[in-house]
Amino acid sequence: MIIETERLILRPFAETDAADVYEYLHEPAVNCFACMKLETLEDAKAEMKNRVGETEYYFAIVLKENGKVIGEIDAYPETGEPHADENTVRDTFSPCWMLNLGYTGKGYAYEAAHAFFDYLFKEKGARRIYAYTEDYNLSSQHLCEKLGMRTEGLFREFVSFVNNPDGTPRYENTMQYAILKKEWK
Ligand SMILES: CC(C)(COP(=O)(O)OP(=O)(O)OC[C@H]1O[C@@H](n2cnc3c(N)ncnc32)[C@H](O)[C@@H]1OP(=O)(O)O)[C@@H](O)C(=O)NCCC(=O)NCCS
Repeated sequence: MIIETERLILRPFAETDAADVYEYLHEPAVNCFACMKLETLEDAKAEMKNRVGETEYYFAIVLKENGKVIGEIDAYPETGEPHADENTVRDTFSPCWMLNLGYTGKGYAYEAAHAFFDYLFKEKGARRIYAYTEDYNLSSQHLCEKLGMRTEGLFREFVSFVNNPDGTPRYENTMQYAILKKEWK
């Protein structure tokens, strides 16, 4: 699947994307992506081999003007409810979005996320899209709000991605945002 916007192409990853991805995942910008850190370019090449089969839910964000991969966006179908069983419809999605920090502040994240949400709602059966973001991640919260997502709550000390210097888990306060298909314009 390829999604086109005014300035961007969202497309599946290719093995040739390793250097661009290494550029932003060598030092992940936020703790929630710490586990995605790529230590070396060789690691990035191996990671691209894992990603190339992902054609429906995991996209490279590519600048039309020069073909550079400036970030990524993905979300997978979930049941999204606590009492789900194997027959429950997987109509809920929770996106992860990340730009190379050299390309933020230009509206690219909104452009990519808007097109991705449209794709999920119109082509992939999404009923509800929700996003988690840490309470200090103001740019991600701002993006949620621009996309029309509602604040649904704040989970105090909800999750730990990294440890404190003394080795204990560092828990983060997490905001939840969401939007329903019937709210999507
Ligand atoms: C979260 C993240 C994706 C947001 O990216 P971003 O570039 O700040 O978001 P946007 O695309 O909405 O662009 C922001 C600004 O670009 C500016 N901009 C510049 N040129 C623009 C243009 N041509 N069109 C639209 N906006 C433009 C706008 O002023 C906009 O700010 P505004 O919404 O106040 O008007 C980015 O900060 C990031 O990757 N962070 C690290 C990873 C991360 O935190 N992921 C989320 C984990 S929960």
